Amino acid sequence: MSSPEITRPKTRTHTVGEALKAQQGTVVTIMGWVSTKSSIGGIKFASLRDGSGYIQVACKRDRVSEEAFAAFESVTRESAVGVTGLIREDKRAPGGKEISVTDFWIISRADDWPITRSAVKSASFLYDKRHLAIRGKKASAIIRIRAEIVYAAFDYFVDNGFTLISAPSIVQNAVEGGSTLFEINYFGKKAYLSQSAQLYEEAALAALGKVFIFQPAFRAEKSKTNKHLTEFWMIEAEQAFANQDDNMKLQENLVKSMAERVAKNRNEDLKILGRNLKVPEVPFPRITYDEARETSIKKGLPFEWGEDLPTDSEREVSKDFDVPFFVTGYPLTARSFYHMTEETNDKVTKSADLIAPEGFGEIATGGQRIHDYDSLTKRIEGQDLPRESFEWYLELRKFGMPEHSGFGIGAERTTKWICGLKHIRGTSLFPRTITRLKP
Ligand code: 4AD
Ligand code: MG
Repeated sequence: MSSPEITRPKTRTHTVGEALKAQQGTVVTIMGWVSTKSSIGGIKFASLRDGSGYIQVACKRDRVSEEAFAAFESVTRESAVGVTGLIREDKRAPGGKEISVTDFWIISRADDWPITRSAVKSASFLYDKRHLAIRGKKASAIIRIRAEIVYAAFDYFVDNGFTLISAPSIVQNAVEGGSTLFEINYFGKKAYLSQSAQLYEEAALAALGKVFIFQPAFRAEKSKTNKHLTEFWMIEAEQAFANQDDNMKLQENLVKSMAERVAKNRNEDLKILGRNLKVPEVPFPRITYDEARETSIKKGLPFEWGEDLPTDSEREVSKDFDVPFFVTGYPLTARSFYHMTEETNDKVTKSADLIAPEGFGEIATGGQRIHDYDSLTKRIEGQDLPRESFEWYLELRKFGMPEHSGFGIGAERTTKWICGLKHIRGTSLFPRTITRLKP
């Protein structure tokens, strides 16, 4: 068959997602990456991906030029290609549509794909090749879900009158204790990478009332676990004239809206991950630290009153729940210096952790802050903290500091729970852990 003259378009007419919605008979030009190839009888098939979806393309020798057919036959997996063709309804095709190819060309040919079943001997190999592995169906589904969680948070805060702020990542203060600080040399002075923007949020309150922030936090976590990154992104919020009860309400409504939004907009991605997500209703269940400790002891995991809830206990307690729940009233000894204590018991803080169910564990920590100058001074001095670097934070308490509260929720921990993942590293495009600094 003599092939007609074809002028190859330089741009696409449709994304894959748009092509999947186009009507039977529509002529489309799409561009994307070859995800898989196969052939049945004389027909060659490929699945193309461009980030907006996957579409099956079918190429028959007598419908295309010799050159196009040769290109289709020889194209390697992960090559970038262009396709022109007709949309055909086909129930057997994934997504119900297929492109019947009239032209096919290679834009950038790929070498032999290194991530094969036989090459993948460990998860570590996949993370060495993370710059390529993120193209996988599951890997990219997780990244889209994480994005949806963050969009949900932004919408939620904006709708509720919060202002987005930013804060420095190079700081002088430890917010969450000295043991996980990354030290840096700042022109000959000691500085640290920020563990949390909370103290800056508190300063912003008197200017803006209700604030939120989304930025990286750094923790020199020395232990290898499936829930710690050394660099992660935190969504934090802080409100003036709000107590710990208001704070928990804010958190549960936020987390509900995140789960709802993912269930609605990223259902396909949840399916790719095989995740059956239960969207929680508010109010979330609440148990006290003492109750959590009792349950843990009953399950054979005793620990001293005053210690932070150990990871094993947190996991076991959370298996009794199928929606996120709060653990309230942590002992002061398990909390950072800024926490306010109960009027009736100065050993117990007005704080809570939000724990994801089914063993996923802590996703958020929040609490009411000390707003009184003298109490905070006593606390800082009592804990031998360097008063000079907290001088500005203390001074806020001299210029109209009302009752206030806030929390921080980890974007990656939340994604881990919503996606139902065993390990946190898959929630980060390029994770940083104690053993990983590459790629
Ligand atoms: O519980 P954390 O340490 O609390 C704070 O930093 C408070 N200052 C926040 C605030 O009140 N504004 O951290 C908050 C959340 C955790 O619940 C967890 O989701 C996440 O941040 N997180 C981590 N995520 C991944 N890797 C780590 N190493 C994390 N450390 C904390
Ligand atoms: Mg915490």
